[in-house]
Amino acid sequence: MTQARGKFITFEGIDGAGKTTHLEWFREQLERSRVPAGASVVMTREPGGTSLGESLRQILLHEPMHLETEALLMFAARREHIATVIEPALSRGDWVLCDRFTDATFAYQGGGRGLSLDKLATLERWVQEGLEPDVTLLFDVPTQTASERRGAAREPDKFERESDGFFTRTRDEYLRRAAEAPRRFAIIDATQSIENIRVKLKDIVSSI
Ligand code: TYD
Repeated sequence: MTQARGKFITFEGIDGAGKTTHLEWFREQLERSRVPAGASVVMTREPGGTSLGESLRQILLHEPMHLETEALLMFAARREHIATVIEPALSRGDWVLCDRFTDATFAYQGGGRGLSLDKLATLERWVQEGLEPDVTLLFDVPTQTASERRGAAREPDKFERESDGFFTRTRDEYLRRAAEAPRRFAIIDATQSIENIRVKLKDIVSSI
């Protein structure tokens, strides 16, 4: 019997929304109750997920650069990630749980930095050849809440040092994309307690 193609699930949200808190728990839920026997969950992240991608991540998170260079490097890392990790995993029937994907590029480089969404859509078509997440969980919080949460975090990277205005534009673009693709997106009110969020995540796990 040929193995059914796996599911591709992405986690998104502005820095400080708290998505990282929920990733590992979500993976365990998938493995326990959802992934078919014999398949596993591949957990990965962007930018990153491959050796080349992790090198690009270091540059992207720490070096200043032109906004188009930033978008191109995000998509270069993504091309490698799709070709060597994501697509092979989905083809063999594994599920892929990815911490950020192309919605982050539209939100951060498009919304936050103001890069043309048309240019990003061109790169998306080129690099992804139709690949898109089956389900995207968007952890949504007001900019102010995210900024307070980030305040307590470790030494900020290039993006975490951005202004509240940048994160408001980023959040708005995430919400706009979610409104455009309501069947793919689940919006999670990340101001809720961890327990309440887990109740919602359980519903999502069973509905996938
Ligand atoms: P993040 O996923 O928040 O990791 P950590 O929890 O270690 O900070 O960091 C990745 C950063 O990269 C985040 O600030 C968003 C940014 N980013 C983009 O600007 N565009 C993209 O396409 C992706 C994938 C990430």
